[in-house]
Amino acid sequence: MRYHSVIVWLAYTTALVAAEKYSQYGGSPPVYPSPNITGIGGWEDALKRAKDFVNELTLEEKAGMVTGTPGPCVGNIAPISRLNFTGLCLQDGPLALRQAIYASIFSAGLSASASWDRALVKERSALMASEFKGKGSHVILGPVVGPLGRSPFGGRNWEGFSPDAYLSGVLVEESVKGIQEMGVQACTKHFIMNEQESQRNPSYVDNKRVEAISSNIDDKTIHETYLWPFANALRAGTASIMCSYQRINGSYGCQNSKTMNGLLKEELGFQGYVMSDWGGTRAGIPSILAGLDMNMPGGFDFATGAPSHFGGNITLGVNNGSLAIEKVDDMVLRIMTPYYYLKQDVDYPDIDESTGGLNFFPVPNYQYQFSFGPVTDVRKDHASHIRKLGAAGTVLLKNTNNALPLKEPKNIGVFGNDAADFTQGLIPSDNYDIGTLAVGGGSGTGRFTYVVSPLEAIKTKAESWGALVQYITSNSFIRDHGLGSIYLKPPDVCLVFLKSWAAEGSDRSTLIAEWDSTAIVEKTAALCPNTVVVLHGASPNTLPWRDNANVTAILAAHMPGQETGNSIVDILWGTINPSGKLPYTIARQESDYSKNLINSPELVGSTDPDAWQTDFTEGSLIDYKEFDYYNKSVAYEFGFGLSYTTFELSDIKIDVVQANPSRTPSSSAEILPGGNRELWETLVNVTVTVKNTGKLTGATVPQLYASLPAAEAGDKTPVRSLRGFEKVELSAGESKGVVFGLMRRDLSFWDTVGQTWRLPAGKIGVSVGFSSRDLGLEGEISV
Ligand SMILES: *[C@@H]1O[C@H](CO)[C@@H](O)[C@H](O)[C@H]1NC(C)=O
Ligand SMILES: *[C@@H]1O[C@H](CO)[C@@H](O)[C@H](O)[C@H]1NC(C)=O
Ligand SMILES: *[C@@H]1O[C@H](CO)[C@@H](O)[C@H](O)[C@H]1NC(C)=O
Ligand SMILES: *[C@@H]1O[C@H](CO)[C@@H](O)[C@H](O)[C@H]1NC(C)=O
Ligand SMILES: *[C@@H]1O[C@H](CO)[C@@H](O)[C@H](O)[C@H]1NC(C)=O
Ligand SMILES: *[C@@H]1O[C@H](CO)[C@@H](O)[C@H](O)[C@H]1NC(C)=O
Ligand SMILES: *[C@@H]1O[C@H](CO)[C@@H](O)[C@H](O)[C@H]1NC(C)=O
Ligand SMILES: *[C@@H]1O[C@H](CO)[C@@H](O)[C@H](O)[C@H]1NC(C)=O
Repeated sequence: MRYHSVIVWLAYTTALVAAEKYSQYGGSPPVYPSPNITGIGGWEDALKRAKDFVNELTLEEKAGMVTGTPGPCVGNIAPISRLNFTGLCLQDGPLALRQAIYASIFSAGLSASASWDRALVKERSALMASEFKGKGSHVILGPVVGPLGRSPFGGRNWEGFSPDAYLSGVLVEESVKGIQEMGVQACTKHFIMNEQESQRNPSYVDNKRVEAISSNIDDKTIHETYLWPFANALRAGTASIMCSYQRINGSYGCQNSKTMNGLLKEELGFQGYVMSDWGGTRAGIPSILAGLDMNMPGGFDFATGAPSHFGGNITLGVNNGSLAIEKVDDMVLRIMTPYYYLKQDVDYPDIDESTGGLNFFPVPNYQYQFSFGPVTDVRKDHASHIRKLGAAGTVLLKNTNNALPLKEPKNIGVFGNDAADFTQGLIPSDNYDIGTLAVGGGSGTGRFTYVVSPLEAIKTKAESWGALVQYITSNSFIRDHGLGSIYLKPPDVCLVFLKSWAAEGSDRSTLIAEWDSTAIVEKTAALCPNTVVVLHGASPNTLPWRDNANVTAILAAHMPGQETGNSIVDILWGTINPSGKLPYTIARQESDYSKNLINSPELVGSTDPDAWQTDFTEGSLIDYKEFDYYNKSVAYEFGFGLSYTTFELSDIKIDVVQANPSRTPSSSAEILPGGNRELWETLVNVTVTVKNTGKLTGATVPQLYASLPAAEAGDKTPVRSLRGFEKVELSAGESKGVVFGLMRRDLSFWDTVGQTWRLPAGKIGVSVGFSSRDLGLEGEISV
């Protein structure tokens, strides 16, 4: 008896400790009911057409409209031929139509963001969308702003843009516009705080179910950092949002009413539909009531193979009274309104016969008849764009003695496994040794039709002056034998190509380039006083050899896509003047980043169902905001990047556009997609002049950072936050004025008590420069 009560007591205290440990964020508050679509913001007419369509549907058809079914695309909504509706084809992913042939492999989000070029980023999305449309795909599963990049180790950071919420916000807006102006739907993903791959889904340890990791976050940080770029995507009209696998404050991403009903549909006025990540639906009616509109892939539970949580359960739920038919109607309306808005009912191409190559569904076990069209080559002249963006997204980090641009070296050495052509096929799945890394792996990759390797492009370039191009592309050979086989030592220039793999499903285990990179650089530099290092792949990478005097130049070349070799040759020889800027921080060493990523071996083996918890206690202090706040030195700061010319900034001018604005946006202002309309009104213009003071044409990126008064904006207010940037191309000697329009949201902090954005009463510091730590111009804003 006594013994028994001790056990009970022990169990009780363990439970208390557990509750304390897991609930410091208090769980996710319930937000019901789920808001209805109104069509506000320009979709009103499309909504009327969607209503006419829904009125024709049977209950079973309605259930089918919100539940994926086996078919040729990675996600499929069944056709209803009676209504001339040919179904919906959803395809991966953010940089290419993954499972097609004769489609382009564009630059990854990482390269796009390193270009800091709105126009190029928009063009990338538009050209990509034209390929999706050409192959009969209605929805692109992209762009990506989740993960944002809380930890540099995140395995999927490269699919998105930048750990800076503002930069990601601007670029996702351009991306959604680029996609949807071509008549294709964007699906902005993954909502929200899917910041690590490790334990993103539940696992089974000793047959015990262990739940997916829970990202636990406070209200201020989610608004000021992780939700921020999603608001931009909504403002641009994203048709859809994909909810994420992991939990948020203990509640799964695809059944979290606070994030879907509350943040997305109420606060940000989202009018489109939320679809689940593949197999991310954990329950039927509870997910629907929390705001989930479409279950993917849906025909079965992707993870367990069980029948769908939606489908038959929806008809059952409506018939037994546990689910209102009006709720189902709203889900279908949210799906069909952007379809009509984007005129996808008019002459949309049939699904390209070449899709379906992933054997995702047991072919030809399709329940429904899809219409197929011929295999079409949709690549057109997109290669020239890809080559251009690949170069624009390359960042020159070091260039001593003007090692670059190269002229006509007679003897060129090319070293490293990243220089070579692919050796393991044209769709990058797992990490591979010899072969260039042009994009990462997982659902965000694509099937190449060709790749121009760096070695091939260098050989082609050097032909015109008959240079000797000597190469070793086996890193293990260099590691064991050095540059032993090279004739005429040292070459005039040694180009070393390194790479870092990353793919969906796992996180990075190191921030140092792979395949013995340090040894490869050191062995080369020992012989070659003019060693130029090029890094491809996931970023950031720490660079242990960066101060080696024989390493004269370093280029972070990211993931340029199929024209990678041509892009780097354009930079190396100065056909294109480098203008990329780091969209992240390169620390001096790996341990300088607080890792913010949970994957210890003890956790991996734990059978505690709630063991996986990650508290976002750092608030918004990630990437440069962390380094700035703690006054830590870095190797290369956020926003940094060299050019072959020089620039100067002058004449900062601050113009108040809207005098004496209220502290908070009016609570009676319309809630448009993206939130309260007044948040997007420009309050202040900051103007500067930028001049090219060198001898070559080139582009640079003046950047504006705002410093909110910490006394009002709260603990851990970043020292400065990016709030404006503009890519400017200038010929030698030319000057241009740049205007940064600062909107209300840009100058506000999230007031958790008022549940609104609030302008500080005190002064806001403004600094403008060429990086987050090269800020020559300063000013103050009082609004
Ligand atoms: C998470 O919990 C915090 C602390 O209780 C709360 O402020 C916040 O609104 C919650 N957010 C979500 C999305 O559940
Ligand atoms: C949504 O609209 C239906 C009628 O179609 C109504 O019954 C329901 O109350 C509305 N829900 C909300 C949250 O306004
Ligand atoms: C379907 O298309 C045919 C041919 O264009 C047309 O005659 C018919 O009215 C359409 N039906 C509906 C329901 O739109
Ligand atoms: C309802 O969903 C469950 C999984 O939650 C599944 O096992 C069941 O077969 C579904 N029922 C119908 C009628 O689709
Ligand atoms: C009604 O249907 C839903 C969905 O399948 C099911 O979860 C629920 O248990 C059913 N309720 C009743 C009372 O039968
Ligand atoms: C730099 O190159 C020279 C050969 O030109 C060599 O003697 C020296 O050791 C090298 N330095 C390093 C740090 O590798
Ligand atoms: C960083 O430096 C500033 C200015 O020198 C100082 O005010 C601040 O307290 C320092 N912060 C930390 C965390 O050391
Ligand atoms: C602010 O800048 C925009 C252009 O970016 C311009 O149209 C507007 O007139 C400017 N307003 C003021 C008051 O300077």
